[in-house]
Amino acid sequence: MSTPLYHLPGSMQAPVPALDEAPALRSVADVLALSQVEEVMDELGRDLIGLAPVKTRIRDIAALLVIDKLRAAHGLTAQSPSLHMCFTGNPGTGKTTVAMRMAQILHRLGYIRKGHLVAVTRDDLVGQYIGHTAPKTREVLKKAMGGVLFIDEAYYLYRPENERDYGQEAIEILLQVMENHRDDLVVILAGYGDRMDTFFQSNPGLSSRIAHHLAFPDYAVDELLHIGEGMLTQQQYRFGVGAREAFDDYLQRRLQQPHFANARSVRNALDRARLRQATRLFADRDKAWSRDELCTIEVQDIRASRLFAVNTSE
Ligand SMILES: Nc1ncnc2c1ncn2[C@@H]1O[C@H](COP(=O)(O)OP(=O)(O)OP(=O)(O)O)[C@@H](O)[C@H]1O
Ligand SMILES: [Mg+2]
Repeated sequence: MSTPLYHLPGSMQAPVPALDEAPALRSVADVLALSQVEEVMDELGRDLIGLAPVKTRIRDIAALLVIDKLRAAHGLTAQSPSLHMCFTGNPGTGKTTVAMRMAQILHRLGYIRKGHLVAVTRDDLVGQYIGHTAPKTREVLKKAMGGVLFIDEAYYLYRPENERDYGQEAIEILLQVMENHRDDLVVILAGYGDRMDTFFQSNPGLSSRIAHHLAFPDYAVDELLHIGEGMLTQQQYRFGVGAREAFDDYLQRRLQQPHFANARSVRNALDRARLRQATRLFADRDKAWSRDELCTIEVQDIRASRLFAVNTSE
């Protein structure tokens, strides 16, 4: 398999809330208290830098679902709401991360039984030979039932240049399941915005089953810097004097380079900075390094990047 299927770590999964058996759900506060969904929303607000439009949309969706619960308590809701979504944005803008949080929110509100996330790409769904696609797709769907199926770069499922591409078969099965199992599986299609638009134009059946479109903007430099600091803190590192400014400078340069991938590029750059820090400390075998020194990324660990060697006058 080209990409690993992965699941939310067990510790992140809350016990299934007994929302549907709750005696009297009268207020928004009742639903929030019982589902504990607000914890996840607060975490999302706190842990993820920027993404204001995405966070607003998630709050709107959560509001819709909470009110749906209150309506159901009055016997008003007939059909489970359509929750399939589309996340568009450039690489590293937080789509996978937000999808995991979304799975938790849907789980806590009782819309999916298990709340796990299964992430796949075309190769996990589509076979190479005749007869291989249907079992492959069904196997993935089976794993995803009760949770979220996240299909990255979903447009690769559709290859109009191949007259009989097996991707079409996977799409047809997906369509059926999205319709018939909407109370037990949420599908999130992800990818670049423009390609997704073209894909939806050629596959109106899929497009019409997607209820929520969330656009993930590129991060501004100050947001990337903020994200970087958060990553360092998580790993018990920090910037030494002047290193933050050096990293700011690095990011401004990196943004201009090809294959810039937002927060993912930040993560990769910091991984390399840690490597250089380690090499720097390793060079002095006899010195007893202090806790502080072991935690500090210095200016030179950033400035040694080859990006600073590029002749900018060119
Ligand atoms: N807003 C954010 N705040 C903090 N960290 C973030 C944020 N967005 C992304 N990250 C981190 O950046 C990395 C890449 O994010 P993620 O994998 O969610 O992006 P993606 O849009 O799915 O990217 P790709 O298209 O490359 O799969 C992850 O390590 C994630 O934790
Ligand atoms: Mg991703």
